[in-house]
Amino acid sequence: MTAPDRITIARPDDWHVHLRDGDMLSGVVNATARQFSRAIVMPNLAPPVTTIAAGKAYRDRIMAALSKDLTFTPLMTAYLTDGADADEIIGGFNQGVFAACKLYPANATTNSSHGVTDISKISGVLEAMQKAGMPLLVHGEVTDPHIDIFDREAVFIDRVMSGIAKDFPELKVVFEHITTSDAADFVASAGPNIAATITPHHLAFSRNAIFQGGIRPHYYCLPIAKRETHRLALRKAATSGSAKFFLGTDSAPHDITRKENACGCAGLYNSPFAIESYAKTFDEENALDKLEAFASLNGPDFYGLPVNPGRMVLERRPSDVPKTVAAGPHTLVPFMAGEISPWTFTGFEN
Ligand code: NCD
Ligand code: ZN
Repeated sequence: MTAPDRITIARPDDWHVHLRDGDMLSGVVNATARQFSRAIVMPNLAPPVTTIAAGKAYRDRIMAALSKDLTFTPLMTAYLTDGADADEIIGGFNQGVFAACKLYPANATTNSSHGVTDISKISGVLEAMQKAGMPLLVHGEVTDPHIDIFDREAVFIDRVMSGIAKDFPELKVVFEHITTSDAADFVASAGPNIAATITPHHLAFSRNAIFQGGIRPHYYCLPIAKRETHRLALRKAATSGSAKFFLGTDSAPHDITRKENACGCAGLYNSPFAIESYAKTFDEENALDKLEAFASLNGPDFYGLPVNPGRMVLERRPSDVPKTVAAGPHTLVPFMAGEISPWTFTGFEN
């Protein structure tokens, strides 16, 4: 069967995005909102979003930065710290301010210095979340400096994730931005309450890209891309049709000067061509018929939300990805900068 040149899918959502704040926010939020109806917004601001009041205020800033012609719902998350208060977290969930909690192991990644130092410190909060049906979103990497950076996700499964699954068997958990076959296997064999997001970039390149002919900071993100066998396992999981895997871009913009730097920041800015990059992967895997479940159905199903009205149209038609895009005073280098995207998002229909 020849692959189609035009497909439509229910309007997708992004289940993991960094929209930033201040003069970066208004430059990046519309790139997400133009494609996605809803997005799970990461709380790793400085200072992090830990209270209901901070979550509401951030949501207001996002809505104020949104283009008036776009419809978009930001789903806010609470950042867990060692001192997280179960009443505040569950109160925020019950009031519809927080859709989920984010667990960053302390110092695992950008703005995670306030993260959790030991999972036992938040067992009361996890207990309450399990009871309330509030999802836990996990950055699954150990921070032990003795563990090789390429092994940190696999070791996290053994040291932390399997314990969470055992001690809180009903807790809804999203293993965020998985990068290894170990994580894909763990999620596939866990109960229906454990799911995973997969980014477009971890489907597209392996760790070789970071060192292709020199050091390439725009391919550096956390968790870091792993070897090719892992990338192939992620592509298999994403296109498998399993309801446990869904779209989360982990779009994480940093100004070009913070990326092209002797100590460059981790994160790729992939919002401008997010759905197109996923479409390219699914097309290459002869699995375009599985894109809608991954991008638009599995996520709402896991979060207990309705599928979005409206259908997104994607056409096999080349688009030039710009080398840079402006975000307020910032210059950002998008994922696939300077390349041709074989797929183009052309609009919505009913
Ligand atoms: C993220 C960021 O910059 O906020 N960076 C990244 O490489 N993904 C943090 C994160 O999600 O780990
Ligand atoms: Zn992230």
